Amino acid sequence: MSTNTLSLASHGPVIPVIVIQKLEHAVPLAQALVAGGVRVLEVTLRTPVALEAMEAMARAVPDAIVGAGTLRTPADVQAAKNAGCQFGVSPGYTDALAAACKEFGLPLLPGVSTASEVMQASSAGFQFLKLFPAVAVGGVNLLKALSGPFPDIAFCPTGGITPETAPQFLSLPNVKVCGGSWLTPQDAMDAGDWGRITALAKAASALR
Ligand code: 3PG
Repeated sequence: MSTNTLSLASHGPVIPVIVIQKLEHAVPLAQALVAGGVRVLEVTLRTPVALEAMEAMARAVPDAIVGAGTLRTPADVQAAKNAGCQFGVSPGYTDALAAACKEFGLPLLPGVSTASEVMQASSAGFQFLKLFPAVAVGGVNLLKALSGPFPDIAFCPTGGITPETAPQFLSLPNVKVCGGSWLTPQDAMDAGDWGRITALAKAASALR
């Protein structure tokens, strides 16, 4: 499961963390991101239309690799799988969530924020982890510190990262990709300014 999610990092340096408020934004947003070279899309399960949005993106934009973010429960995992998601992301780690992902065949990028959680997730077989909320829990300094005891663990830091700070994260050997919401500003979506989103995606693709 963990090896599958590590392949997500091969598509580019940034995974957009997407909050869809209006279902009609889903397909043009995915098309705009893919046009800018960003194929791996994390759609958070935070809005009433999130599952329908994932389904629409996966169906209408075949070049997009759609995943579900904010997975918290086994029911979330099943719903994400049914919506056609190819991977899942969680803010934290639980054995129940990991077991559900295994049961439903959904590769999981689980969140951690401490050394103990790294040990818990890695002992369950996960070697590619989301550091969340990355900046709030220590950012670049924490990732450098974790590389000592955990040389076999790779991270996707997410939370508080900006286009300006992303290069510092991406230069660390244990960071394969980072996550962020800056590629999908709500005002651009509301205005239907898909060109702006493509431009943000192009800039993010060029970050490493
Ligand atoms: C989130 O929880 O929404 C993600 O971690 C994204 O965080 P960001 O908005 O700071 O990029």
